[in-house]
Amino acid sequence: MTVTNVVTGAVDWAMDRTIGPGYSRLGFEARKRFWAADPPSDALKGRVALVTGANSGLGKAAAVGLARLGAVVHLVVRDVTKGERAKAEILDAVPGAELHVGRCDLSDLTAVREFGDSFAGQLDVLVHNAGVLPPERAETEDGHEVALATAVLGPHLLTGLLSPALKASLDGRVVFVSSGGMYSQSLRIDDPEYREGEFAGAKAYSRVKRMQVVLAELWAEELRVDGVVVHSMHPGWADTPGVSTSLPRFHRVTKPLLRTPEQGADTIVWLAASAEAGRENGKFWHDRRVRPTHFLPWQHESEEDRLALWTFCETATR
Ligand SMILES: NC(=O)c1ccc[n+]([C@@H]2O[C@H](COP(=O)([O-])OP(=O)(O)OC[C@H]3O[C@@H](n4cnc5c(N)ncnc54)[C@H](OP(=O)(O)O)[C@@H]3O)[C@@H](O)[C@H]2O)c1
Repeated sequence: MTVTNVVTGAVDWAMDRTIGPGYSRLGFEARKRFWAADPPSDALKGRVALVTGANSGLGKAAAVGLARLGAVVHLVVRDVTKGERAKAEILDAVPGAELHVGRCDLSDLTAVREFGDSFAGQLDVLVHNAGVLPPERAETEDGHEVALATAVLGPHLLTGLLSPALKASLDGRVVFVSSGGMYSQSLRIDDPEYREGEFAGAKAYSRVKRMQVVLAELWAEELRVDGVVVHSMHPGWADTPGVSTSLPRFHRVTKPLLRTPEQGADTIVWLAASAEAGRENGKFWHDRRVRPTHFLPWQHESEEDRLALWTFCETATR
């Protein structure tokens, strides 16, 4: 290990633990000087990607990045008008890109099943990006808490339905877009639907983001034998419609330091396209580097709880 590696590693570690600097655009700018190389410009030529929540923020920026690397991109949205608008904007950024708009409300398990069953053909990259921070507790038609249904149950069902196509790929990859907020929560498999205690949107959001990280690890084990790689990541803090709407005060205060959506989406695209990410499996990433999933020892989930999460997702999406 060189002196430069030791110094950059120490700076990177310090930015991670102090949160603000690392999650902001300062962290992005500092780390990009020494992070893993960009994938080749045609890395995704001949490959097909699907991004949920692709009409806005990080999902749209990820779709641009994937299309730039040559992928055919399916923009999966719950509002087709917004999806078509995003498609036009992505085409402006990447002329000639092959883009398809598909409708699916990720929180509606019937809609997810219909979408998954009707999706035909090649799939190499699946990005679970759709997410919400609900202001108050609400349930879907299926009776599930909305943040959970959108970020965990819908993606779990969709991954299963699309896994035959991912297994058929020579380099299948799945990326769960989690959040650094997940560090604040343990896996709450005792109350996955947040029925107990006073509901707080930010807490509900962080809980499901923790679940996504564990779920990605479980799917990585499930699909490993078929050569499909599954990772989770967190984007830091990026200036998106989701942040300005759900966290207006945070957005006002931090705006000058927030990452652009492209900066927030950088690691999503890199995980989909780089050879380095394909050699790992079931890891949690930020700024092109594997990150710890826990900072506090008592937050580690037991093997029993991890399996209980899988059973819960299987039962709820049956
Ligand atoms: N921005 C950040 O700093 C940050 C930090 C950590 C993690 N994240 C994560 O990054 C992801 C993208 O967030 P963002 O900041 O880009 O927010 P955003 O601009 O609000 O984008 C969220 C996307 O998810 C879609 N969506 C929400 N519920 C859906 C559902 N039930 N079915 C289908 N699509 C649905 C939204 O569609 P509509 O436009 O129709 O609502 C939108 O396209 C989320 O998972 C978020 O938790 C973001």
